[in-house]
Order: sequence, then structure tokens, then C-alpha cells
Amino acid sequence: MSPNSIKICCIGAGYVGGPTMAMIAKQCPDIEVNVVDINEARIAAWNSDSLPIYEPGLQEVVQEARGRNLHFTTEVSESIEKSDVIFISVNTPTKTFGIGAGRAANLEFVEKCARQIAESSHSHKIVVEKSTLPVRTAEAVKRILQSATNPNASFDVLSNPEFLAEGTAVKDLLNPDRVLIGGECPDAIEKLAGIYGRWVDAERILKTNLWSSELSKLTANAFLAQRVSSINAISALCEATGADVDEVANAIGTDSRIGPKFLKSSVGFGGSCFQKDILNLVYLCEHFGLHEVAAYWEQVIIMNDYQKRRFSTRIVHTMFNTVSDKRIAVWGFAFKKDTNDTRESAAIYVCRDLLEERARLTIYDPQVKLEHIKRDLEYLMVNEFGELSEHHRKLIDSNVEVASSAEAAASGAHAIAVLTEWDEFKEVDFDAVYQAMKKPAFLFDGRNLLDREKLAQNGFEVHAIGKP
Ligand code: NAD
Ligand code: UGA
Repeated sequence: MSPNSIKICCIGAGYVGGPTMAMIAKQCPDIEVNVVDINEARIAAWNSDSLPIYEPGLQEVVQEARGRNLHFTTEVSESIEKSDVIFISVNTPTKTFGIGAGRAANLEFVEKCARQIAESSHSHKIVVEKSTLPVRTAEAVKRILQSATNPNASFDVLSNPEFLAEGTAVKDLLNPDRVLIGGECPDAIEKLAGIYGRWVDAERILKTNLWSSELSKLTANAFLAQRVSSINAISALCEATGADVDEVANAIGTDSRIGPKFLKSSVGFGGSCFQKDILNLVYLCEHFGLHEVAAYWEQVIIMNDYQKRRFSTRIVHTMFNTVSDKRIAVWGFAFKKDTNDTRESAAIYVCRDLLEERARLTIYDPQVKLEHIKRDLEYLMVNEFGELSEHHRKLIDSNVEVASSAEAAASGAHAIAVLTEWDEFKEVDFDAVYQAMKKPAFLFDGRNLLDREKLAQNGFEVHAIGKP
């Protein structure tokens, strides 16, 4: 088959499926790319001017290819049938029930995709695992695909994990550090490599066996999260000793063996993947009887939970041991800047702790809506207590509101808590904000985003992460 005749189907139009396929369609105008999803509202949004995810530069990429060779549709089986390469890019959340609950990945959606591919295939297909999966999932996918009844259906399974980070997805896809392809069939590997090869240098396209590829994705996220937990662990020691965590990070990061990236101390890492993937790694290690290895990686999560809790405890202690009925302006709710994604955001946990202390929260995030904030808080309560009690529902309803700007959120507040590092927070008129706040005006910078000395001159009492 010549590359010109390739047709792609991607199952799952989420944070990965949408941007990844938009980039392939942009770079390969001759390849037809169909992105399918069972979520009708999401597909409708991909077909509108208001995309379902906020990602700098994405709108332009989508607009260039959409309607030409990029299509978003709910017609899953039709798209599978006419495609040669099928990406599985569905969600793989942590299981909340049954065996492995709270640790193992829930592979229900991946399995449903494999069954649908088996059912709808009448020719040879290359099935690509794009979702992040436990090592050896491809074995299960292959077995399910064997159940295909059409005599002309046959399959190769490849692992092609995605390494993009939200907020920089377009940049990461355009210029990836590497593309990883794991597989058994050299022709299938070459065919997929040929697609990426249109814009990625050949030496950056790594080819491995299936299991190395699957395991490398979990390992990459574990190593990245470990760096954040490592520097966050040191931030606690900095606060106790008078050292400054940014100075320490800079001093160690200039050692080329350590490197400067991913050493930004924070209120804790969030996002849909770090915690889920490490828990998955921990579960796998336990499954193979590697208890010490499991405990080693679990500590990365324990440290992250500690960091989030430490931040909210510090707010309460600093504000004379009570925030009850005090108004706290929360600046940022997304798990990092330049995304509207709030999954596992540290902000959810900090807000939960402050609500438990009966604080009143006024939240401003340029990309997150009130309904999502309430949904996240409710979901956390259900996860922790098994249900949403009347008490928690009332607390969320009466003590959480949103403001239309950072300044408006802070007006009349007792404190500001910076939970996401949005650039616009640096441009705020802090003189005016200080005037409009209750005194003493506390500012808790969970991202070490703002200039502490200038804020102190404005009159604020500033508390940052890992700062003396
Ligand atoms: P997401 O929840 O944003 O999107 C998944 C989509 O799959 C949803 O829209 C859902 O409706 C759809 N879906 C589920 N089952 C389906 C089915 N049977 N048929 C059709 N559609 C179906 O998830 P995401 O953030 O895009 O993550 C997808 C995978 O990629 C996960 O395994 C994740 O670990 C991995 N990953 C995510 C990121 C990231 O930054 N978000 C980065 C790298 C890898
Ligand atoms: C992460 C990885 O960086 C991607 O390579 C991977 O593809 C993705 O997970 C995934 O598998 O989903 P993402 O979670 O989108 O990407 O964003 P990151 O930039 O990694 O940030 C994760 C969290 O760590 C954020 O809350 C961020 O604020 C925090 N962080 C990051 C820090 O606190 N300090 C840092 O130095 C870096």
C-alpha cells in the first residue's frame, strides 16, 4: 500500500486523540484522518469554533486541516471499516472498583475498542495503542482481535505511546524529543514510522519491542513525577532551614547530569496521568511480587499528597489557625497553565481542605468554569467518603463562587492563594489589589510565580513554597 492511500481512524477525541490527529492531518494532507468518539457533545465541539480543549496554537492546526483531510465524527464502526491504521486513544483511568481498585488501570474502554475493531474489520488493520497502558496489554488486545469473524480481517498491533504535555501539546507534537514505536511486525512499524517521518527526523523515531514501548511510557511519567516530588521534598527542608528552593534547584540543575528541567517546586503535581500511571506501575510491581519496587515508586505519590496538604495546612496556621468564614481568593484551578484541564489538579485538594475549614472561596481561572470546579470538588468528596453528603453538597454550593478576574476575586478577601501559574497573574496591579483586601493581606504563592520582594513592598504578607 503506498503512503498516499493510507486512511487513519483514531478512537477517542480527547486531549491526546484530538491534537495528535490534527497534527498528523496537518503534516500529511494526503492522509485521511477520522477522529471518532462516543461523546456527541465533544465531537460537536471539535467541529465548532469553540474546541473542547484549550491548547495554545491548536485552533489554527485544526482549522487548517478540518474538512480537508481531518474529520470528527461519531460514526465509529464506519470509520474503522474504511481505515488501514486505527489508533486507540481512549481514557485509561485508575480503577475505582473491584480487584486493583485505586491502583490498576481501568482497561474497560480499551477492551471495548478492541472488540469494536474486531467486529467492524473486513481487511488488514494496523492497530496502534496510543493510550497509556500497563505493560503486556498488547497481548490482551491481540487476543480480542483474534475473535474477528470476517475472514479477510487480520491485524498487527503496535504500541506508540504519546509524550505530549498539556499546555504545550502543539509544540511537543511538532517537535517531539522522540516518537516511540514498539511492535513485532517490521512492515507495520515502518508504515507508522513513515507517517511520523513526514516531519520528524528519522533518528528521533525509536523502534523497540512491544513491551519496552509500553513500559517506557509508564517509566517516563514516573521519572518526571519523581523529579517534582524530589524537589518538593527539598522545599519542606528549605522552609525549615532558611535555604531557598529555587536557588537549590538552580544550583543542582546546572549539573549537566541532573539538568535544569522539571525542578520547579510547587503545591504538588496534578494532571490526568502522573498519579494514575505511577499507581499503575505500583500495581504491576505488586502483581509481579516486587514489593520493594512498588513501595519505592509509591513514595512519589505519598510525597505529592504531603505537599498539597502541607500547603493548605500552612494557610490555616498562618491565618491565626482559622479560616472559618474568611474569604480566600483562589487564583487558578487548572493543573498547570495554558490548559483548561483540571483532572487531579492540586487546586481541587487545597480547596477541599479549605472548605473543610469552612473558608469561603472565590475562584478565578481564565479557562475553567464554575460547573467544572463544583463537579471536581463533588467527585473528590464522593471518592473519599463513598458518597456526597448533604453537608458537603451545601458547603460546595454556598462557599464556592467564581470571579471574572484575579482582581475581582481578591477584592474584599483575607488572602490570595496562587494555585496555577497563569502568566496573567504576574500582570495584576498589586497596589490596587492590596488596597481592596482585608488586612493583614496574606498571599500564598503555591507556584513561586510572583515577585515576593515587590509584594512585600506593596504590603502583602507573602508565603511561598520552599522559601525562608
Ligand atoms: P480523554 O478522557 O480526554 O479522552 C478520551 C476520549 O475517549 C473521551 O472523549 C471518551 O469519550 C472517548 N472514548 C472512551 N471510550 C470510547 C469508545 N469505546 N469509543 C469511542 N470513544 C471512546 O483522555 P486523554 O487525556 O486524551 O487520554 C487518553 C489516553 O492518552 C490515556 O491513556 C492517557 O493516559 C494518555 N495520555 C494522555 C496525555 C494527556 O496529556 N492528557 C498525554 C499522553 C498520554
Ligand atoms: C505529563 C508529561 O510531561 C508528558 O510527557 C506525558 O505525555 C503526560 O504527562 C501524560 O502522559 O499525560 P502533563 O501532565 O500534561 O504531561 O503536564 P506536565 O508539564 O508534566 O505537568 C504535570 C504536573 O507537574 C503539573 O501539575 C505541573 O504543574 C507539575 N510540575 C511540572 C511541577 O510542579 N514542577 C515542574 O517542574 C514540572
